[in-house]
Amino acid sequence: VTISTQLIGTGDTFVGRTHESAALLHQLELATGGQTRIVLLAGEPGIGKTCLLNWLAARAVQEGAAVLLGGASQSEGMPPYLPFLEALGRYIRTAHLEALREQAGDIAATLAVILPELASRLGNGTASYPLPPEQARLRLFEAVSEFLSRIAADRPLLLVLDDLQWADGASLDLLSHAARTRRASRLLIAGAYRSGEEGPILPRAVAELTRQRRLTTIRIGPLSPDETSELTSRHLAGPTAPDVDRLLYEQSEGNPFFAEEPLRGWLETGALQRDGDHWSLAPLPDDILPASIVAAVEQRLARLDAPVVDSLRVAAIIGRVFQASLLANVTNRDPELVEEGLAAARQARLIDLRCTARSTGRIRSSAGAASRAR
Ligand SMILES: Nc1ncnc2c1ncn2[C@@H]1O[C@H](COP(=O)(O)OP(=O)(O)O)[C@@H](O)[C@H]1O
Ligand SMILES: [Mg+2]
Repeated sequence: VTISTQLIGTGDTFVGRTHESAALLHQLELATGGQTRIVLLAGEPGIGKTCLLNWLAARAVQEGAAVLLGGASQSEGMPPYLPFLEALGRYIRTAHLEALREQAGDIAATLAVILPELASRLGNGTASYPLPPEQARLRLFEAVSEFLSRIAADRPLLLVLDDLQWADGASLDLLSHAARTRRASRLLIAGAYRSGEEGPILPRAVAELTRQRRLTTIRIGPLSPDETSELTSRHLAGPTAPDVDRLLYEQSEGNPFFAEEPLRGWLETGALQRDGDHWSLAPLPDDILPASIVAAVEQRLARLDAPVVDSLRVAAIIGRVFQASLLANVTNRDPELVEEGLAAARQARLIDLRCTARSTGRIRSSAGAASRAR
């Protein structure tokens, strides 16, 4: 699953998201009008959070805002404050020197504690110095918040913080601090996180930001069938045969990543070919799933205990929709244990829970791909 926080191609391949982009623009307007705002995009991997953030960044640049891009990372050994270090580090390296000198001013030495590139750009007098940890932390929060608000003084500032499900506690505390103490900066902080993978720290920060009434959360759902076909035809620069659209929607259920990956695979293997002005699909072999999707699903399965994976195997045979009680019967396992396992599988987004009139609830495998990968 994509972990990239870089700008990826938006522009002419961007489809749908009318409401979401209008809501983002509204937040940008509020910030431009002098309110510090935070907007968080939440949704499953591949649904298009980074894509929307990139779209917003491009719009903000068009409207004359400054844009700083940062993101958290899953890799081991990353320093605290990574999303801020990325965003501000890039700014420090590229900002106009005079403006930077003014903005960093009296807080340069404190900022340089985590942003040593500031010292090298501004030269003498910004050597970092150690402080007792708690004081250092508060002073640092103050300095970064102030720095952001000074950058936002000249023109509105959009700070993009992607993949916040992996953010360290210090970054999230800093985010809350900036929002609490700089209420009237022309600052929009736009973040994204994977719902269901928040861990324990992010919900606390979200609760805190909600209390401050600075936060708007936008849940990113699947694309519609029409939008998915649109995505496909933009990718191929031409229309597709209806059966291709149908198959892609069935497999992806509107998740752009799960639509793009098979498409890429079919192009590589030559299964997808131009047929007049249309693209059509040759009969596919059985293992039609591209390695990237198999890897994404394997990664999710790896987080589950072996008995849970076993029961999912049985569930996949029952069908796309199955009942927990039937699964317990077939596997001859304690229904409560089965339910517990299914809750874990749901957390890993391998299955979906559909409530019905019956108390048992219906369970459905999440992406067509997920059940096929079994
Ligand atoms: N609205 C959209 N229009 C066109 N392509 C999209 C759209 N949303 C997502 N994509 C594409 O789908 C893939 C996954 O999207 P991404 O934004 O990386 O998902 P996420 O950040 O939620 O994991 C990317 O290649 C992206 O370009
Ligand atoms: Mg992303």
